[in-house]
Amino acid sequence: MLHDWYGKSSNLDVAVEWFDGFECADFVAALDRVSAAHRARLEAGRQIYVYLESPCNPHGYVLDAPAICEAAHRRGLTTILDSTVATPVLQRLLQDSDPARRPDFLIHSFTKDITGSGATTAGVVIGRNERMFIPKGESAAATGPDGNRRVYKWDETLFWNVYYVKGAFLDADKAFEVLNGARTLEQRVLGKCVNTIVLAQLLSRHPEINVHCNAAPGNRNAKLRERLLYLGLPAPLFTIDFEAGASGPGRVGRAQLKKLFDRLEPAFGLQVSLGQNNSVVLCPALTSHSELSDEALREAGIAPTTIRISVGSEDPRTLLAHLIKGAELAIEPDCPGFLRGFPQPSEIDAVYRQVYADVHRRYVESRPSFDALLA
Ligand SMILES: Cc1ncc(COP(=O)(O)O)c(C=O)c1O
Repeated sequence: MLHDWYGKSSNLDVAVEWFDGFECADFVAALDRVSAAHRARLEAGRQIYVYLESPCNPHGYVLDAPAICEAAHRRGLTTILDSTVATPVLQRLLQDSDPARRPDFLIHSFTKDITGSGATTAGVVIGRNERMFIPKGESAAATGPDGNRRVYKWDETLFWNVYYVKGAFLDADKAFEVLNGARTLEQRVLGKCVNTIVLAQLLSRHPEINVHCNAAPGNRNAKLRERLLYLGLPAPLFTIDFEAGASGPGRVGRAQLKKLFDRLEPAFGLQVSLGQNNSVVLCPALTSHSELSDEALREAGIAPTTIRISVGSEDPRTLLAHLIKGAELAIEPDCPGFLRGFPQPSEIDAVYRQVYADVHRRYVESRPSFDALLA
């Protein structure tokens, strides 16, 4: 769809190129490849815009966004980052002391955790004044993210380029929903992070479930999560699948998956959205990522049995209880012994209590002292 709309010469004639990987080196390699592939367009005056999503949908994996922004700025490129999955609580890129490491434009969907209820479809773009709005016909001198002074013209700003054409302002009801949601955001996100760690740890113990979450033990994205997200907490979005792998033979196929999926309601909502107060699940291969080819799905780490879990604010043990009961009906008859792979009830209680206490201890210890509040 993106290629179709942005790339078609009858529409915007924008060349859309993708890059995979979490690290700055992955980005720089992709940038070199893309710059070479589009040399003629670039020489004719076209520009590269770097659009990042971190943490990413569907696995919640984190990119080294500050380093990527710095590398892009060194080449004079504009960076745009969608931080929706982290919410402003978990990822605070605009607070980086070095402007080169901040994205030029930061995007959040209000539809997701910020409102929390799913009742409002809206979003926000945050940028520096001179990139957002300059009165018609005027220009403004400012220091760019690369540290060089330059002049920005009115018709380069987001207002005239995008807002004016597309409509930028929320009506009063939607603005009310967003403001109301923002008041409880931090506490909701904290609870969801606890639940994500609990679910990732406990599901990882099942030998036939592969957990793709940077809060799962030994996950390859864990270091970036620890370094870049608030208190090292994971974004409340991850996937599981039942494919063959180091952890098991892959007995659960499409048929059992469909039966299981239908039994996940009502504990899990079967919705395409994410970042709601309640836990929501979907099968990316059938919905959100259905436009990708089989190869692109594989590259994105999405299998036919992948389930994306957008973790909600419930007691995570109610979710696990429901999942285990669903598996008893949907999987156990075809795959005897599957239920034995789940942790014991006492283990589940112990992990929940330990993670809950640990995250809240880290949170309260990170809060400013009363002296600092008075100062
Ligand atoms: C990372 C990310 N950003 C933005 C959006 C779109 O948000 P909205 O529903 O507000 O258009 C989504 C939708 O799933 C998303 O996953």
